[in-house]
Amino acid sequence: MEYEILGKSDLNVTKIGLGAWQFGTEWWGWGKDFGEKDAIEAIEVSLEKGINWIDTAEVYGNGFSEELLGKVLGKRRKNLIIATKVAGTHARYDDVIKACEGSLKRLKTDYIDLYQFHWPNSYVPVEETMTALEKLVEDGKVRYIGLSNFPVPLIKEAQKSLKNTFIVSNQVRYNLISRDIEKKILPYCMEQNISVIAYSPIAQGLLAGKFSHDNKPSDDLRKDHPLFKEPNFTQILNFVEVLKKFAQSLGKTPAQVALRWLIEKNGVVAIPGAKNKKQAEDNAGAMGWKLDENIIKKLDQESKNLKITYITDN
Ligand SMILES: NC(=O)c1ccc[n+]([C@@H]2O[C@H](COP(=O)([O-])OP(=O)(O)OC[C@H]3O[C@@H](n4cnc5c(N)ncnc54)[C@H](OP(=O)(O)O)[C@@H]3O)[C@@H](O)[C@H]2O)c1
Repeated sequence: MEYEILGKSDLNVTKIGLGAWQFGTEWWGWGKDFGEKDAIEAIEVSLEKGINWIDTAEVYGNGFSEELLGKVLGKRRKNLIIATKVAGTHARYDDVIKACEGSLKRLKTDYIDLYQFHWPNSYVPVEETMTALEKLVEDGKVRYIGLSNFPVPLIKEAQKSLKNTFIVSNQVRYNLISRDIEKKILPYCMEQNISVIAYSPIAQGLLAGKFSHDNKPSDDLRKDHPLFKEPNFTQILNFVEVLKKFAQSLGKTPAQVALRWLIEKNGVVAIPGAKNKKQAEDNAGAMGWKLDENIIKKLDQESKNLKITYITDN
């Protein structure tokens, strides 16, 4: 098993965690394409494969994701690392404290290992939110504080606001198609020993290599997403063909190679979401082997050639 210590904490997480946004989220086709039995199997197989942490949030499935984890984990909770998030809309001091109580209750636990501020709130000074998060650490309800979707200037502000604790991680979108964080966020986090937690690490399924012009996802989340439209989609499919060739030559799946490319980077861990046992098992298989330097270089080059735009043709 491969581990990474998150920032300056003692949270020793497996390089791959399990993302739990899917559980209870209708946008992802919850209740239609997959349901509770699939989610429970995905959790169980992840733990069997050695994954030791799960990422959730108060907003996922309107609390259902946390509730499901509370129900399923039981006594195993103490051996696991639970990362959850307070919503950006709950940035006020009292709201942070209240949100944490809600998460603890749903998760059926009395502490959260990593409590992340889900997205910045431009109406509430970050100092107010950080003060509340630090109070939760003092009270023993939270072990470590993390951020999510934070640009460098705001990370600095958040760091400055903390008196006795520190920022352990920043959770951001990072995958072979979306590499914007490599410009400023990744170098800053590495320099500061803040771990980068890569979300959407398989670009919401695109890097798994199963989509084509005739097979696009129909769920509300992705049917109108710019990555699934032109001029992006064809370019991405061509890139995925390259990824598939490497995967085939290695006897791995495209999702595993895409995840491996991320976690080979120092300090980066990834939290792929899974809708069922098969996907969770596949994603856990990104650990325990190495990508050849040449393949990493070629994937780097090919992915840098992608010209993704968020203004699409239709
Ligand atoms: N902090 C934030 O703002 C934020 C934002 C987004 C996500 N997150 C976190 O990051 C986690 C992962 O991100 P994500 O869910 O956006 O994207 P992702 O992990 O890149 O993609 C997940 C989706 O890809 C497909 N998939 C997963 N594994 C697969 C496999 N091995 N083979 C084939 N298809 C596979 C599944 O959908 P289909 O089968 O339908 O294709 C699954 O729902 C979330 O669960 C959440 O915990 C955080």
